[in-house]
Order: sequence, then C-alpha cells, then structure tokens
Amino acid sequence: MTSNNNNKNKKTALKKLVVNDIVSMKNNEKISVITSYDYWSAKICDNTGIDIILVGDSGGMVMLGYNSTVPVNMKEMLIFSRAVSVGTKRSLIVSDMPFGSYQIDIKHAVKNAIRFIKSGSDAVKLEGGIEIIDRIKAIIEVGIPVMGHIGLKPQTTKLWEGYKVQGNTAVRGSQLLREAIELEKTGVFAIVLEMVTSEVAELISKSLKIPTIGIGSGPHCDGQVLVLHDMLNLYDNIKPRFVKTYTNLSEVILNAIQSYIIDVKTGKFPEEKHSYKIEDKEYERLVKTIKKIHKKSHSRPVPPPPPPPISEKRKND
Ligand code: KIV
Repeated sequence: MTSNNNNKNKKTALKKLVVNDIVSMKNNEKISVITSYDYWSAKICDNTGIDIILVGDSGGMVMLGYNSTVPVNMKEMLIFSRAVSVGTKRSLIVSDMPFGSYQIDIKHAVKNAIRFIKSGSDAVKLEGGIEIIDRIKAIIEVGIPVMGHIGLKPQTTKLWEGYKVQGNTAVRGSQLLREAIELEKTGVFAIVLEMVTSEVAELISKSLKIPTIGIGSGPHCDGQVLVLHDMLNLYDNIKPRFVKTYTNLSEVILNAIQSYIIDVKTGKFPEEKHSYKIEDKEYERLVKTIKKIHKKSHSRPVPPPPPPPISEKRKND
C-alpha cells in the first residue's frame, strides 16, 4: 500500500461519526456501544473504534457511588459529558438526560438538551415512551438528535416494580412495540431496549427502520450496549445476568497498587531512572555554598531567647 493510501485510510478511520452513519448501519453491521464518563476512558474507547460512547446516567452509580441512577444531576452529567467529548475524536457521543432534567415541561427539557450539545455531546437519550413524546419532539425540533430508551427504565421502573424483565406477556410485548413505533414516528434515530425478552426485541427490531440497541435484550437487536465498569469488572454492587465480563480490572488495579506499596516501603521505587540529576559541576558548587552557610551560622553568636509574652511575665511576677 502506498503512503498516500495509508494517509487516506487514517483519515477515514478518524472521520467523526454522525447520526446518519449510525442509522445506515442497520441491516449492514451491528452497532457497538459502550459507556464512558471521563477523559481517559473515553480516549481508550474512542481508539478501539467503538461506534457510540454513551455518557450514561449509570455514571451516577459507577462513578459517584449512588445506589441508583435517580440521584445524578445535570451538573454531574455535564461534567462527565464534557470530559468524554474532550477525549473523543471519532465515536458518536450520546448523553443521558438525568432524572428530573426533562420531566417538568418542554421548555426545561429543551434547555437541558441544549446544555448537553454545548458540552460536546452529539445527541441525547431520554428514558420513556408515549409519556414523554412531546418533550422528545420538541428537542428534535430544535435540531438535537434523540435516542429513545424503553423496556426497563431504571430512573422510574425501580420505583414501581423493581428491576424486572420487560415484554414477557403478549400485552406488555405489544405495548412495547407500539411505543417503539411511536418513538420512531417522532424522529428518534435509535432506541435502547433494556431487559426486554429476546423475542419481543427481535419483533421490535424487525418492525423499525431505525436501529435498536439492546442491553439484556438478546442477540437480535441492531446493536449492543454495556456499561464499561461492568464489562471490566470495576463495579460489582449489582451484576445483572446480561453482563459479560471481559477482564478483571479490579484485580489488575489492586495488584498494581499493592506492588507499588511494597516498592515504596522497601525502597525499590523510585529507581535512578525515575529521578532527576543535578550536573556534577553544579553539585560541587552547591556543596561548597552549603559549607559556607553552615560555617557562618555556627560562628554567629547565639541570640538570647525572646522575652516571654506580657501575660506570661505577669503570671510569673
Ligand atoms: O445509563 C446507562 O448506562 C444506560 C445503559 C444501560 C443503556 O442507560
């Protein structure tokens, strides 16, 4: 391959993905999605060639230690989104709108969606179906791409029925399909299906022109998403059955830090290669200067101790 071709390939590889690239992957190529919430992990994710980086509200749990996705707020999500956008060159960035940021009214929802785009995200994701169609429509109308999210909706499902499989009856399955069709009509570019039975997820995926992104929804979705901390085994407070762990990063980090502690305690770290040197000539001059300083300070008469403070004096009187 000529160097010209090489350069051309590099450019193609680095081309920033846009929403239409993702939509056109339907029926051609599965869409890969991973979550990220900070600069360094976004940089790594982006370098892997992942299609979408989702700044999920799961960040409230895996980054901030909250016990659900409910407490995370706009300020925190915007910090995550900003950091991810700084670390990302190619992947499409979708930010989750946190609970409370789009429920109140249309104006509030649009205003908050705009804040995500200003923080460097390419699109936003809202949890919900028919009940939030007016807000999704309004956000799309100002030009912001929206990803839908139905099935298990962790922001609210937990309050009603806990984390349960969705679409496991004919009635609930057809409700989900109706919601998906409604979301597509409203203009969302993709829909996350969370913990939906495989059969229903397949029916929905085949009925839509836009891609479905599954999490715990079987192999027939057009793409898959996993929470980064789950697949790296960095977070084990909750471990749903649908998570596949690809490595045990907790153990790798633990071992690395323990080795560091041993090195510090035994003096094995830092080695010479980790330290900085003063030039020999400069060092000799320094030693001479120090000697002079010492000599001067020793030859000086010892000053008398300072008088005690007035109150002390009075006490002693
Ligand atoms: O917040 C998140 O990580 C998500 C995924 C589980 C889809 O919404």
